[in-house]
Amino acid sequence: MKESFNKFFVSITNWQENKDITKWLLKISKHYNKYMFGFLFINLATMLLSLSSSIAGRYVVDDATNYKSDLFYKYILIMLVTTIASILISSLSNLFSSYVNEKLAFGVRAKIFDNIQKSDWLKLSKFHSGDILARLSDDVSNVASTLITLVPNILVTGVQLVLVLIILFMNDPTLALIGLIIGAIGMVANLLFRRRYSEYQKSLQESQSEYYSFFQESLAKIGVIKTFQLEDENIEKFSKIRDRRMKLVMKSTVLSNVMGSAMRLIYNIGYVVTFSLCAYRLTTATIDANGVATFTYGTMTLFLTLVSQVQTSIRSLGHVLPRLYSLKVSALRIKEISEIDNEDYKIKEITPKSISLKATNVQFSYQTDKGNVLSNISFEIPSNSHIGIVGTSGNGKTTFIRLLLSLIKPDSGSLEYIDENNNHEEACPSSRRFISYVPQGNTLMSGTVRDNLLAGNNDATEEQMWEALRFADAEDFLKNNHDGLDTVISEGASSISEGQAQRIAIARAWLRNKPILILDEATSALDENTERRIFEKLTKHRDKTCFIITHRRSMLSYCDMILEITDDGHAILTKNESINSDKV
Ligand SMILES: Nc1ncnc2c1ncn2[C@@H]1O[C@H](COP(=O)(O)OP(=O)(O)OP(=O)(O)O)[C@@H](O)[C@H]1O
Ligand SMILES: [Mg+2]
Repeated sequence: MKESFNKFFVSITNWQENKDITKWLLKISKHYNKYMFGFLFINLATMLLSLSSSIAGRYVVDDATNYKSDLFYKYILIMLVTTIASILISSLSNLFSSYVNEKLAFGVRAKIFDNIQKSDWLKLSKFHSGDILARLSDDVSNVASTLITLVPNILVTGVQLVLVLIILFMNDPTLALIGLIIGAIGMVANLLFRRRYSEYQKSLQESQSEYYSFFQESLAKIGVIKTFQLEDENIEKFSKIRDRRMKLVMKSTVLSNVMGSAMRLIYNIGYVVTFSLCAYRLTTATIDANGVATFTYGTMTLFLTLVSQVQTSIRSLGHVLPRLYSLKVSALRIKEISEIDNEDYKIKEITPKSISLKATNVQFSYQTDKGNVLSNISFEIPSNSHIGIVGTSGNGKTTFIRLLLSLIKPDSGSLEYIDENNNHEEACPSSRRFISYVPQGNTLMSGTVRDNLLAGNNDATEEQMWEALRFADAEDFLKNNHDGLDTVISEGASSISEGQAQRIAIARAWLRNKPILILDEATSALDENTERRIFEKLTKHRDKTCFIITHRRSMLSYCDMILEITDDGHAILTKNESINSDKV
């Protein structure tokens, strides 16, 4: 208990963190301030109308008890008009808040999505996609709804409390003071109760990430789950996650109910005390020198209406602390992904027709404490060469390709692209503009074959698409057994064979038609004849620098040079004729 209180206290009083998060929230909501002011204005109007209606009510009762019929109907009319207006405005407020809520949530999501697209690949890959999904959906919704409703509500309730206190003091200072004390006791008790409730917020939000990650993984890997007969185990895992979440939800609901009941008790006692005191005041009321009663039925009605209005507001203020805490947790989770470093896009220095490559002492490790994956790599590769990259599995071939693509940066050393006019460009994300890439594994996107090919070149004509498919030996199966360019590719390309998926991926890269072509195990699922046909066509094209990663020794006969990544992460570049078949 003491420990959790300390944790909560530290979190609430971590001023620097609170300052940073407030600054960040102000930044992301900057464009929506006018809507928040609009919402604040509507709520203020509703509150003022309710107060006016209560004051008019007091005069209705006083006139009625004094048989003054002249003003009676006027006040009844005021009550009626203010009540109807307040109902209309409050429904307008609901509409407005849903509209602004969606606008803000989509605005924040768009900004984060934009950042994710531009962020550093390695840093982003540390997050589970399910976790990112949870942050983008639930956390963003939480931040948007809290910002839109909570901040204006705090301000309106604050103004309401001050106004009510002024009215109460003007009518009966002693009773107002008693009301203030009861309100303060309620507020403190409320804060104490809510403290515990807030502790569950972080765990609940984290468990949502666990939930999404599990679902996402289970759906993406459903084939593996079935073939390894893991269905029951997976259902069990799901039950455990659900049970953990249920426990948290139940704990916070029980606490919330206990709090609600306790608060109702305190405020109902407060109401009874106010009612009794008002009744006592009525019995002891006197007529002053001006002939006015010191306490009237109207004053009692006004007091009771105001007390119940204030009770509702204070009760809603009781939610402020947990909601602020939950806002902070969500904001921190969104801020974390929105602040993943962006890639360093340099100005495009060269627009080459052909490219040579120079690596000087390139060194790279994924984690500094785990040692280098690539060490001191130096070589020069002339333009339009075809380079076979070999090495034991896990030696760093794909890592080397990631360096070429600037998905990762060398820890030291340099990797330069040199164009036909001897202009140099240090490898950077914008160097991807002259690279076509067929990644390892299945990387087709769901949609049609046409959608995938257009991702390679958005301006490609049907003829060019078929030409690329012919190059990748994919024409026949698409024409004979499928719907041609309209063949549907399901998620994970499970609707076609792996070799067919690889051939479409090769056609996609071919359509992109850039001076560098990288094939990372791009033909690993193909039979030797098909693979050979593709490589024979490739060798005829001497207008590209090609990097071909392969575990098949026979394919190296199509390469001019062999780059071997050794077990200690070094690279040895040799001309093909000098390659010794034992070595590769
Ligand atoms: N994102 C990553 N984070 C940390 N370590 C990684 C990451 N990707 C790869 N590695 C590690 O870096 C080393 C080189 O991996 P890489 O994928 O480059 O090997 P590879 O030569 O392409 O292997 P294969 O022939 O099996 O495809 C391996 O030890 C691997 O575990
Ligand atoms: Mg690899």
